[in-house]
Amino acid sequence: MKTAKELIDSISEELHHHNYLYYIKNEPIISDFEFDQLLKRLEKLEEENPSLVHANSPTKRVGGDLTEKFEAVAHEFPMLSLSNAYNLEELEAFNERVEKLLEKPSSYTCELKYDGVAISLRYENGELVRAITRGDGSKGEDVTANVRTIRSIPLKLNKGNYPASFEVRGEVFMPLPAFEELNKSREEQGLDLYANPRNTTSGTIKLLDSKEVAKRKLDCFIYAYYSKESRQQNQFEGLGHLENWGFKVPDVEQKMFQLSGNMKEVFSFIEYWDEKRKALPFETDGVVIKVNDFSDQEILGNTSKSPRWAIAYKFQAEQVSTLLNEVTYQVGRTGAITPVANLEPVQLAGTTVKRASLHNQDQIEKLDLHLGDTVYVEKGGEIIPKIVGVNIALRKATAKPVEFIANCPECGTPLQRNEGEVQHFCPNDLQCPPQATGKLVHFIARKAMNIDGLGTETIDEMYSKKMVLTPSDLYSLSEEQLYSLERMAEKSVKNLQHSIEESKKTPFERVLFALGIRHVGENAAKKLVKHFKSIEALASATQEQIVEVEEIGNKIADSLISYFSDPLNQREIQRLQQAGVTMTKEESEQDAISDVLLGQKVVVSGVFHEYSRDEIKALIEKNGGAVVGSISKKTSFLVAGDNMGPSKKEKADGLGIKILSEKEFLELIAL
Ligand code: IVH
Repeated sequence: MKTAKELIDSISEELHHHNYLYYIKNEPIISDFEFDQLLKRLEKLEEENPSLVHANSPTKRVGGDLTEKFEAVAHEFPMLSLSNAYNLEELEAFNERVEKLLEKPSSYTCELKYDGVAISLRYENGELVRAITRGDGSKGEDVTANVRTIRSIPLKLNKGNYPASFEVRGEVFMPLPAFEELNKSREEQGLDLYANPRNTTSGTIKLLDSKEVAKRKLDCFIYAYYSKESRQQNQFEGLGHLENWGFKVPDVEQKMFQLSGNMKEVFSFIEYWDEKRKALPFETDGVVIKVNDFSDQEILGNTSKSPRWAIAYKFQAEQVSTLLNEVTYQVGRTGAITPVANLEPVQLAGTTVKRASLHNQDQIEKLDLHLGDTVYVEKGGEIIPKIVGVNIALRKATAKPVEFIANCPECGTPLQRNEGEVQHFCPNDLQCPPQATGKLVHFIARKAMNIDGLGTETIDEMYSKKMVLTPSDLYSLSEEQLYSLERMAEKSVKNLQHSIEESKKTPFERVLFALGIRHVGENAAKKLVKHFKSIEALASATQEQIVEVEEIGNKIADSLISYFSDPLNQREIQRLQQAGVTMTKEESEQDAISDVLLGQKVVVSGVFHEYSRDEIKALIEKNGGAVVGSISKKTSFLVAGDNMGPSKKEKADGLGIKILSEKEFLELIAL
């Protein structure tokens, strides 16, 4: 007859072994039912003999020990972090540093970077004695009771050639199925949902009730071994030893870690997992690359924060969550107001994201955005990342909803929003700084007054120095003022003066376009000038007279009437006129040069040499032709420059439409 102690010992031994076969080897040899029967027997024996209960008894897996406060414990070996690489160049640079310091190439062990919580586990005489969180790296918290409930962490090791005392480190994580199951049950109970497995793991490991931890189904991969007594040779073989001793290391057969002889092999490991990780039942956020030989690792040593022998390559996240700190508002050059989310900086697809566009008020309301919210950020096709959702579960009860501003942040004018439009705008188009400079930038543009030698930066500078507030001010700038601008020297001043002077000759239709009257684009300006011929005629036209013009409707007419009725605009036009800017359609331009192209519909495509594409189009019109956008049966011919799209050529060929080169076209109109 066995004593109670002998029975407890042998059943415990048996259960440890089955636990290992089930959770580490994935090869159980008894059924769950048989396992539970054994466990129940042990529980009963322990109940009857409380003094014989072992700290690492298999019954500890179900938890029960309560903690009041986690004790702070110093780490024997500091728990460092890893430096990061976000692209392959940074990895190459890491490899170069390693090779330089070692004076030879190195092989590397590549592992996945498990996204969970780091844990340090101490084993003495083959038994788990202490589990400590990373904490600040030099001391962490004793979470042993909770860690004992993690089935894949051995409480008692297999027999093996390990020292009496050593430490291993690994990552505790919550597998995705466990996370989903947990959230599902929380949903059923009407509780807030958890944001992601990583944060849930970190919260779980610090729960005070280990029974609750046991229910959460945490898991753990071991990736490192530390001992003063005996060192292993290298990382790759070391992982193999750890597995034999009873630890759960990732599966080498599933290529979860690999020995790489060179960077090419490192890159192929990364490439493989960048895609395959999406099918894993746990989250990874990168690959850890470690110099394989421990003697080499020792030569390389550590900085105060991280080892020089390892680096984490971070996968480019497609979506991340971060905090919304503030919403600010940008006023565009057209007066449109764009709300901008100011975020807690976060890595996304290789860049640090601090801001995201919120587009408009509707978007904010749709997201039901509150200040301090945890938001999901995605990088879509656009360069500016966008907020795609909010984790309501993490919202504080006191969080205030984001309220759209009522006044322009630049000039204080009350904002407007027209019916049927989504965007708010600032109506103070003449004096609101970004709008006033926007008007200036539009005025000098190539298609407008074509004033060379002035960029947006100089415009902004001129505006902030109050040298130029409206376009007409450009024509009264003194030489001295121009020299006072940044990056302006003799040559640039002369060029700019010349170009301002030349702009006075700009044809009226382009001047009208340059004024930047709402809805008056290039085409409308052309049609209006053709009809009214002078600014006076246009300014005094009635709504009815304006809509008589071909292709001009009420929207444009309204805008013109409102523009010309504003005294500030009237004064601006007067000043431009006084400066000598063309405000009438000149006689010579009024009539076509010829009518060789009368009735012809011409398509222009590609890049030209002697004239710009716009000049070619103007020549067509001046010679009586009409420019059309796309090729159809009705097209008379196509003027083709360089780099014309192949589909256009195919279409023209298919319809039997003549294609003229720039030279042939110029010959046709006798230029
Ligand atoms: S080795 C000196 N290997 O990443 C640090 N760390 O910033 C050596 N991590 O919190 C760490 N997977 O918990 C290593 N295969 C892996 C890892 C890994 C995840 C975590 C680790 C630490 C962080 C490093």
